[in-house]
Amino acid sequence: MEINTNMTDSKALIQDAIQYIQELFCNDAGGHDASHTLRVYRNAMMIAKKEGGADLEIVALAALLHDADDHKLFQTKDNENARRFLASHAVAPERVDQIIRDINAVSFSQNRGRRPETPEGRIVQDADRLDAIGAVGIARTFAYGGEHGRSLDSSIGHFHEKLLLLKDEINTETARSLAEERHAFMLEFLEKYQEETGGLNDDN
Ligand code: NI
Repeated sequence: MEINTNMTDSKALIQDAIQYIQELFCNDAGGHDASHTLRVYRNAMMIAKKEGGADLEIVALAALLHDADDHKLFQTKDNENARRFLASHAVAPERVDQIIRDINAVSFSQNRGRRPETPEGRIVQDADRLDAIGAVGIARTFAYGGEHGRSLDSSIGHFHEKLLLLKDEINTETARSLAEERHAFMLEFLEKYQEETGGLNDDN
């Protein structure tokens, strides 16, 4: 039943997926733009290669399509955008099922405390979480906050509600050591922010 994808076909498929998401996200400048997806893709491939044992094409497609039906951006149902791409490229139905299952296992809010069932899902979830923390996580938090009219202090709250919890929910060893570095950098940032703004708020 397996469709035998050779290396060239796989490369072309992934290139098409990159182009597809760039078109899909062209209107979004907040934290969930095409560049986020491309970083998740890059980190997912890096983790997958280091960890071994994952189907790299599934990792790539799940990473590239993981936000294609994000409810904050799209009003699609049943992963319509991801499915449209996979169907148009004749990806085998059992592979489509796995990719969709992996995509749906990535979300933080819907899967709190639950590990994705497949290695591919765990890798993409880690890559998505890595992009929410560290320097890039800080940048994305304020970009998103600004877009939604939030004050700096309210964006700072988001670190405590979510971002500082992420390092303990990482699945793979490869991502864990990166997450620890990024976590330490966020703590340093929060301390400096407090130092630079705390005094001001007290005096005025
Ligand atoms: Ni994402």
